[in-house]
Amino acid sequence: MPRYHLTTFGCQMNAHDSERMRGLLGSLGYHESPDRDAADLIVFNTCTIRGSADERFMGNLGEARRIKRERPDVVVAVGGCWAQSQKESVFRDFPFVDIAFGPGEVNRLGELLARERLQAVGAFTFDGRFSGDLPSLRERPHQAWVQISVGCNCVCSYCIVPTVRGRESSRSPQAILEEVAAQADDGVVEVTLLGQNVNSYGRDLPADARMGFAELLAAVAAVPGIRRVRYTSPHPKDIRADVIAVHRDVPEVCTHIHLPAQSGSSRVLKAMRRTYDRQRYLDLVGRIREGVPDIALTTDLIVGFPGESDADFADTESLVREVGYDGAYTFVYSARPGTEAGEQMDDDVPPEAKSERIAGLIEVVQATARERLARHVGRVAEVLVEGPSRTDPSRMSGRSSHNVTVNFDGAAEAGTIVPVAIDAATSTTLAGHRVPVPQPAGAA
Ligand code: 5AD
Ligand code: SF4
Repeated sequence: MPRYHLTTFGCQMNAHDSERMRGLLGSLGYHESPDRDAADLIVFNTCTIRGSADERFMGNLGEARRIKRERPDVVVAVGGCWAQSQKESVFRDFPFVDIAFGPGEVNRLGELLARERLQAVGAFTFDGRFSGDLPSLRERPHQAWVQISVGCNCVCSYCIVPTVRGRESSRSPQAILEEVAAQADDGVVEVTLLGQNVNSYGRDLPADARMGFAELLAAVAAVPGIRRVRYTSPHPKDIRADVIAVHRDVPEVCTHIHLPAQSGSSRVLKAMRRTYDRQRYLDLVGRIREGVPDIALTTDLIVGFPGESDADFADTESLVREVGYDGAYTFVYSARPGTEAGEQMDDDVPPEAKSERIAGLIEVVQATARERLARHVGRVAEVLVEGPSRTDPSRMSGRSSHNVTVNFDGAAEAGTIVPVAIDAATSTTLAGHRVPVPQPAGAA
């Protein structure tokens, strides 16, 4: 029985694609090996969003080179965004790599295995097949990712994604709803809809088959057995009133939006080509909070973008306080070859300033998140149970609708949603104890 070892880097889209690779390889008779040194096939699903992602992967690829030297029959396959970005040079620079395929070509992994050393990434066309249509081997039994679109039509000046993932293409609503129904039959209760820009979903579909994102959210929430729907990531420019209304009116749609701001400075946002300024972003936050006052908002922020002054950075810090994020991912700008900023803008913020800013920003984010999460103490949260807590196996762990990890005392079965009284909060987690399911009024 041939064995494969798979390493995944990058975002949830890649984690999803890796589940499909597992499904595909399983259907081809491969078994997963926990040990790279024992594998016949070494697969990497790569990311290239920042220089640090490339560096991490290079270390792993060096390992593969060593293994290939010791066991020349091993097949080394590199998929994902880095592979796509290196399509011109990967076989020249890394001759021990046998197979390379881009993020839109997961479905071709099987064929490529058969026709080893055939370079797939040369032809950068998307052939209409979504990795979401492939068999899957899910990491988590009760939660699933659902691909709703691939690619991105935005032109954010720092971002490599449109280059490596191509133009945006929406999957048909039928295919999505059929997949969700099959997942629900298989025990899934929570789905996360995935796309680079989920809320422009459907705009490219033929008029007679078109469904907008808000409608899709409601339709997914209505699939019997589905208790929770999440999505990532939306672009602030495309969040419309109908999406906010779905959050307000459909209980299965979670009380959380990840709303990448990137910067709080209108000047920097313009140079980033985000198409909104600080005020428009704040107006959107206001409309969301008007519809769903308690909603959790999280974000992505970049510090050290070319030309970012102390004042621009101060605007980002003040945005965090003004919005009151429940959490944020913070990144140091990394110039990417092939992007507008990487090619045409001077990466002029000194490394010391970048380090100082990111440290300062993390402090503000943590303080803000701590204040925000404290509002849950004394409340009862509905927690989707995932299993024993990783840090303390005597307790259970799960997530609230607000997407906060909740560790709690008391018995509960994985895959169920249980009420937990919240006793304490940190900047990232909640702690509590299980309470009885409330009985409807009038029940004996
Ligand atoms: N440098 C730093 N961070 C980046 N991101 C995307 N491109 C870059 C870059 N060149 C961040 C953005 C995005 C998140 C996934 O990664 O914040 O939302
Ligand atoms: Fe990395 Fe972006 Fe590709 Fe995700 S889409 S794997 S974050 S480069």
